[in-house]
Amino acid sequence: AKVNFVSGGQSSWMAFTYETAEAVLKDDRFIKDMRTVFPNDITNENLPPIAQSMLFADPPNHRRLRSLVQSGFTPKKIESFRERIKEIAEEQAELMSKKDTIEFIEDYAFPIPIRVICELIGVPVEDQEKFQRWSHAIVDIGDAEQYEQIMSEFIQYLDQLIQQKKEFPKNDLLSDLIKAEEQGDRLTTKELHGIIMLMIVAGHETTVNLISNGLLALLTHPSQLELLKKEPSLYKQAVEEILRYNGPVEFSTDRWANEDFLFEGQQVKKGDHVIVSLASAGHDPNVFANADEFQIKREQSPHLAFGKGIHYCLGAPLARLEGEVALQTLFEKFPDVRLATDLKYLQWRESFIIRGLKSFP
Ligand code: HEM
Repeated sequence: AKVNFVSGGQSSWMAFTYETAEAVLKDDRFIKDMRTVFPNDITNENLPPIAQSMLFADPPNHRRLRSLVQSGFTPKKIESFRERIKEIAEEQAELMSKKDTIEFIEDYAFPIPIRVICELIGVPVEDQEKFQRWSHAIVDIGDAEQYEQIMSEFIQYLDQLIQQKKEFPKNDLLSDLIKAEEQGDRLTTKELHGIIMLMIVAGHETTVNLISNGLLALLTHPSQLELLKKEPSLYKQAVEEILRYNGPVEFSTDRWANEDFLFEGQQVKKGDHVIVSLASAGHDPNVFANADEFQIKREQSPHLAFGKGIHYCLGAPLARLEGEVALQTLFEKFPDVRLATDLKYLQWRESFIIRGLKSFP
């Protein structure tokens, strides 16, 4: 689909079919770094830190930034956190068991990924609550002035934390990144802020919705939930189906054409903007049989919920593991969990990118 911008003569494109979505994500003529796309307007100085992270970078800069953290996120390394994630899920379940009615997001789906990502980065437990406001401000549509103020608080906090880690380094991701920053040529301070912000936003806004969208899908498809309870080895597959059916990230981030070219029969011009509907690709009937049905036993699910190509989600192994452990622990402890309200009262958050419920009693 093509939309003409009011000014500048450029167009904005949206890719909806699986084939086009995948082709866009894999095509390096669609780039991400706004300093290259708008050299007269955007520079290192006025580009916010999160936009200086790997998610908004192109090679070779992208490779440099990703390689600084990649080794911490391999499937093998992440699998070694299984027991710790299980402990955290059990602690949250224990807290829930003391309540009559649970606010599932607040009490379970949100704290688990937050506690995990904060432990990985090295954020003290007592500061974890502040991060919710900061990360919501980055992804939700809001007032520009308020956004600036929240970002400046966030950066001020990060600077203090970095200072502490410089004095007392620990065995965590932030301490490792500070070492890279201190070597000067490997990472600038703004890039260090950007990486940490990206991890925090990714850790706060996505996996929470994998867990809660997953519970919603299972509660509204009782036959699938029964299958899962009978055969716990299906949890891994169920997580893939949740990602496809109701993935937490609906749209990719922005990309821009770096040259004029013909793409799938359409004339794309240098500077044109493109985004990909990951949600729509996951429901493409040419790729997924009965695409609008929730079936945890799908043989193959090449969904694009984690993107594709060089920007494929770095946290995918972590998110998958958290989703699996959180849902399994929940149904082990509370096999009869059910919605405390009518389905029609549930509301989705007003975010263009994130698919997640506002609340989930
Ligand atoms: C990139 C989805 C969890 C870290 C991405 C992208 C998607 C995505 C779609 C690519 C966006 C694009 O190409 O425009 C998800 C989903 C998650 C999840 C659905 C949970 C279910 C996480 C977690 C982390 C994380 C827990 C924490 C480490 C990242 C990073 C990138 C990324 C660092 C940028 C990779 C790059 O540019 O090379 N994620 N994510 N994600 N994600 Fe995730």
